[in-house]
Amino acid sequence: MSAQKPRILAIIGQGYVGLPLAMAAVDAGWTVIGVDNFEAKVAQINKGSSPVEDISDAQLKAAISNGSYRATIDYSAVAQASVVTICVPTPLDEKREPDLALLRNAATGIAPFVSNETLVVSESTSYPGTLREIIIPTVNQLKPKDSLKVYFASAPERVNPGDPVWNQKNTPRLVGAIDEESKTKALAFYESICDAAVSVSSPEVAEAAKLLENTFRLVNIALVNEFTQLCSASGINVHEVIDAASSKPYGFMPFRPGVGVGGHCIPVDPLYLTWWARQNGGKAEFVESADSINHAMPKYVAERALCMVDSSVKNPKVLILGVAYKPGVGDVRETPVSELRDHLLSMGADVAWHDPLVPAWEGSQSIDLTWECDVAILATKQPGMNLNQLIARGVLILDCTNSLQGLSGVTSL
Ligand SMILES: NC(=O)c1ccc[n+]([C@@H]2O[C@H](COP(=O)([O-])OP(=O)(O)OC[C@H]3O[C@@H](n4cnc5c(N)ncnc54)[C@H](O)[C@@H]3O)[C@@H](O)[C@H]2O)c1
Repeated sequence: MSAQKPRILAIIGQGYVGLPLAMAAVDAGWTVIGVDNFEAKVAQINKGSSPVEDISDAQLKAAISNGSYRATIDYSAVAQASVVTICVPTPLDEKREPDLALLRNAATGIAPFVSNETLVVSESTSYPGTLREIIIPTVNQLKPKDSLKVYFASAPERVNPGDPVWNQKNTPRLVGAIDEESKTKALAFYESICDAAVSVSSPEVAEAAKLLENTFRLVNIALVNEFTQLCSASGINVHEVIDAASSKPYGFMPFRPGVGVGGHCIPVDPLYLTWWARQNGGKAEFVESADSINHAMPKYVAERALCMVDSSVKNPKVLILGVAYKPGVGDVRETPVSELRDHLLSMGADVAWHDPLVPAWEGSQSIDLTWECDVAILATKQPGMNLNQLIARGVLILDCTNSLQGLSGVTSL
């Protein structure tokens, strides 16, 4: 970074993306200010209690106590920073279209405090053109008069919460900047915290690449979910088929079926792509079809599970195992288990759930595994979930995770 600017980083949004980035930057010698507009979360973080699984309380406390990290709700802290990264959510609105309200708020919030020669980077996932059309005009319009030069880049976050192998440091980072000076500064910043920064020719390429990465996962999951239904109808075990296809050493990558897709990325980002396509007069039909197939999975899983119960049982008791959208996290955003539960209820089932990482969800509490049920659905295999007692009791289980092979009473999706 430029010699006259201190290595102070301000990160807007201290969630699954922002807090791990903060700790990676601290490890790389940066002083980090985490700005978040959720006051209770800021207070929790400053007490050394981490709100995300990937960061331990000990790591957070160490960074706070040695003065290299603090959280604040006060945007004016941005004035001290030489680099500002925006890591706020980019969800869908009620029409399932991009909702950039939080991103606009973040840009508006930082703009009056961005000092001269500061690099502003958007890490939030969005459609191509977001940096250039929304963030840059907002910051340039509201920045202080003496902030003559502000640099801009897009570097979409690729964090995979709960992943024991890939993290902020060893996952290469895409960097697309608006000009050569911004590119030099952005590459220098990411090279200081990541093992590799990959330069692309524009912010739009970086933004589009992020959508491609996540859409790739969505359509492959949809393909295998559809394939699962075809195999099941013919009495073929889809997992054996996937294992068989995986013996091909090139041109095939295994994906596994499940209740659907969840989290803040895979179900959401492809709809930024379909919306962007429509804005440009096109249609992303393949992606729309994949979205529909995945959304049909919860109903399919509910039907499969209820078929396992004796038809004489009027209101079958169904225990859902795991409600988080994936193993190892307590994150229930966009979890397909929500639709699964709705379908089961509408089919007359009495539904309870158990998740060791999610104490409360949608107005109810995680229940003990001793709950007597007619069938259990293993939706997400959480670490620490001891299913031996269920299996020993002879409870029928529909396993949507392919983690209980060859056990009596267990049917795999
Ligand atoms: N979670 C993931 O696995 C993941 C992976 C890659 C990319 N992303 C992308 O990163 C972005 C952030 O996602 P996340 O999962 O970290 O979200 P998150 O909900 O975990 O955290 C976001 C934080 O931003 C805060 N916030 C919201 N608006 C704000 C504002 N205007 N000013 C200050 N703080 C604000 C919220 O209070 C929250 O603490 C999204 O665009 C997402 O698509 C997420």
